[in-house]
Amino acid sequence: MILVTGGAGFIGANFVLAWLKQHDETIVNLDKLTYAGNLENLASLKNDSRHTFVQGDIGDAILVGKLLVENHPRAVINFAAESHVDRSIHGPEDFIQTNIVGTFHLLEAVRAYWSALPDGEKTGFRFLHVSTDEVYGSLAKGEPAFSETRRYEPNSPYSASKAASDHLVRAYHHTYGLPVLTTNCSNNYGPYHFPEKLIPLIIVNALAGKPLPVYGDGQQIRDWLYVKDHCSAIRCVLEKGRLGEVYNVGGWNEKANIDIVHSICALLDELRPRTDGKSYREQITFVTDRPGHDRRYAIDARKIERELGWKPVETFETGIRKTVQWYLDNQRWVNNVQSGAYRQWLEKNYAERDQ
Ligand code: NAD
Ligand code: TYD
Repeated sequence: MILVTGGAGFIGANFVLAWLKQHDETIVNLDKLTYAGNLENLASLKNDSRHTFVQGDIGDAILVGKLLVENHPRAVINFAAESHVDRSIHGPEDFIQTNIVGTFHLLEAVRAYWSALPDGEKTGFRFLHVSTDEVYGSLAKGEPAFSETRRYEPNSPYSASKAASDHLVRAYHHTYGLPVLTTNCSNNYGPYHFPEKLIPLIIVNALAGKPLPVYGDGQQIRDWLYVKDHCSAIRCVLEKGRLGEVYNVGGWNEKANIDIVHSICALLDELRPRTDGKSYREQITFVTDRPGHDRRYAIDARKIERELGWKPVETFETGIRKTVQWYLDNQRWVNNVQSGAYRQWLEKNYAERDQ
């Protein structure tokens, strides 16, 4: 069996669902259920004995130690994190607590468990840490995409805390021999994406007739990967990755934010036209930029392709169409995540931005 942390969030839930579609290998899913964790993402597993959900914190080393000893996993996959850059600007402390201190306690618990395993099982064990391309900082126009040897230059409290966690994972390999793997992936999108992030926020706001907030000039570039392709990359690294190695994961899909917003508007114009016959583009509003906003991210995914044979299945065009359709088909999920706490966040993040 495997232990997954943060498996009620966006990528973790997609991973758990995809895993159980392909395997009968059981999963224990440890998640604190912060605002970003949502058991509705896992509703289809309600009566599935292959999945056990445990509410708890990766920073609770006693709980994690108990789960490890009782369940005897062959691998731990760490998705748990605070993940939203804008929230890290408004309140960095949770990011330090979960992404750095939490990962440290998790590593300590895993090290104690792994050290006591019999030799054969020790060799086969894996700790896979799921990280981000944001640790590398910002690229200038024309600069080559981030390779695994790129210097770490994180610019936001979020990326700095993820960078720190990556360093801890690396150190546990070098110092204690813990069999770790790290993946640094570009921006994901797809089903179950919490609508505080760009793509789901634009879809949800468009359908609600609200402004579509574009930060600054909208020319910042992100490299988008459909979430199910990220999950297949993680499975691939888990099975075939070389110990202690880092694998950058991306879809070679660099897009400016404004182009992403235009693509979503065009799809909605086709699939759910506005009743007044106008385009959703009319709702686009340029707002005050994010402080310290990274200009460009791009992943050089040649290592994972060359060494492990991984490639994404979706292009941006196929992935974004599936995503928009998913949000149209899952209005109940969307309504349920838009709680009072979500509305308070929108007020905090957008009310003070000039248009
Ligand atoms: P998310 O915010 O949607 O989900 C995070 C999950 O972790 C939530 O279910 C939350 O309840 C849980 N969690 C938070 N703190 C916890 C704690 N202390 N103990 C246990 N559980 C806790 O995030 P996501 O987008 O699914 O990202 C998952 C991972 O992938 C993160 O590590 C993130 O840094 C990384 N990542 C994300 C992206 C992206 O585009 N979303 C890209 C690359 C890497
Ligand atoms: P986001 O989804 O928050 O991911 P990240 O900051 O981790 O890349 O944002 C993606 C891009 O979209 C980023 O350049 C910021 C921008 N953005 C907007 O222009 N408007 C918004 O309302 C949000 C949430 C993001």
